[in-house]
Amino acid sequence: MKIIRVKDYDELSRVAADIMIEAVKENPEITLGLATGGSPVQMYKNLVEDHKENQTSYKGVKSYNLDEYIGLPQTHEQTYYTFMHKNLFDHIDIDEKNVHLPDGSVEDVKAEADRYEAMLKDTVIDLQLLGIGTNGHIGFNEPGSSFEGLTDVVSLTPETIEANARYFEGNEDLVPTEAISMGVGSIMNAKKVLLIASGANKAEAIKWMVEGEISEELPASALRNHDDVIVVVDEDAASLLTK
Ligand code: F6R
Repeated sequence: MKIIRVKDYDELSRVAADIMIEAVKENPEITLGLATGGSPVQMYKNLVEDHKENQTSYKGVKSYNLDEYIGLPQTHEQTYYTFMHKNLFDHIDIDEKNVHLPDGSVEDVKAEADRYEAMLKDTVIDLQLLGIGTNGHIGFNEPGSSFEGLTDVVSLTPETIEANARYFEGNEDLVPTEAISMGVGSIMNAKKVLLIASGANKAEAIKWMVEGEISEELPASALRNHDDVIVVVDEDAASLLTK
């Protein structure tokens, strides 16, 4: 696990964007695993800016998102489908047919999770972007999730619902309680992982992930068993690290 410490969210977003851009330039047909949430927003802005200024092309790039809420129509403003289009896909030259997200609006969500996992089995994610939950979740794999887990229907913990209420008018009752998420096992199949974390509310999870016991109680600690992980953390998120 390689740790890159940066000053703040701005620098984190620049450093992470540079890693992504270099990877795309090196392999224009790269398969990316993508994340949503607050952590990558500025990084995606930087990718869009770079695409406009330097014409980095995503025409041959394929993407697979980590997760999606269950129960919202796909075009609802808080789906991850909408997030990805608004923050990235609509502003770069990626081919819509190369873009993949689980669809949480279908009736048979279990079949959808299985369909998504079958697609992942047929592909190799070259670079997987991750954020981390305050409780150490990756994707929507909450504490207690199996390290071998594959894409599945999952329940969000009260802590995650509380953290995500900010996107739903601050109202926890509006936050979906379930999602389809790639499992920890699916995530671990990626060739390389880039995890970004910013802010003091991530400090405990980062400390456990980097220095604590490898345990299913902190899903992100599974990444210590992966041999190519880059973690970019700002000062606040790194504030509890002892080394
Ligand atoms: C998002 C995802 C989540 C987030 C995590 C951190 O697709 O899978 O694991 O990365 O909840 O969210 P933010 O970045 O909003 O703090």
